[in-house]
Amino acid sequence: MFRMKRFLVVCMVGLFAAMALAGCGSDARDSASTSGSTASSSSDKVLRIGTNADFAPFEFQDANGSEYQGFDMDLIRAIAKEMGYKAEIQNLNFDGLIPALLSKNIDVAISGMTINDERQAKVLFSEPYYKSGLTIVVKMDNASINKFKDLEGKRVAVQIGTTSAEEVQKIPNVDAKEFNSSADTFMELKAGGVDAVVNDRPVNDYYIMKSGEKDVRVLDELLTSEDYGIAMGKENTELKKKIDDALTKLKQSGEYDKIYAKWFGEKK
Ligand code: ARG
Repeated sequence: MFRMKRFLVVCMVGLFAAMALAGCGSDARDSASTSGSTASSSSDKVLRIGTNADFAPFEFQDANGSEYQGFDMDLIRAIAKEMGYKAEIQNLNFDGLIPALLSKNIDVAISGMTINDERQAKVLFSEPYYKSGLTIVVKMDNASINKFKDLEGKRVAVQIGTTSAEEVQKIPNVDAKEFNSSADTFMELKAGGVDAVVNDRPVNDYYIMKSGEKDVRVLDELLTSEDYGIAMGKENTELKKKIDDALTKLKQSGEYDKIYAKWFGEKK
């Protein structure tokens, strides 16, 4: 008899836990993956966007930290608008973006994020929206580093959780130092704490152009060829379709080219 009672209690607890979990799940889904619910107007459909806003010209905050700016930010706002969603942007650590997608705290991540197999095992990516790759930044007076091979045995700064961090691991005897943001890697180079930075090419070029930096230079060699994609939860196939459709429309209408030209100049 006692056994039976205990069995029932265990069942009930299990049932409640399952109900609570199901409730949470549907809450999170209400924001972006419900396809046009009847009662809601477009203004209450929210797209919860995660980014790591320290990666100009893709995502950064202006001097007083008020507005999110950059190519990715303009693009995702245009995509949300096209889809009839309100864009709500959150600033997270880069290595926290995929976990935030998995726990459904955000609907999409746009953050100059490279599409690769390792990430594709965990999340779904939109169609590629930008072609990128990695380059090396060194101090002007550094004559010993001229190509990727020269990084052997050197101190190299990279951002945590990035493709740069992964690539640098392949170099024999490298002393890789990982930082939370790409801005920190540049600071470390200037301070003399490392011999080189490995980071995405457009970000390196923009940094040098904007800072008017005479002290550092970017090497020509492109280490990788990478495609950026917008990441979302694996089960979110409906959202992926909406985002891909919106991206196609923005490309057809010339809006994508406008945003591109604003941050990178006219397309070659
Ligand atoms: N493209 C690289 C990667 O996907 C670096 C991206 C870093 N993005 C950022 N917002 N910090 O790993």
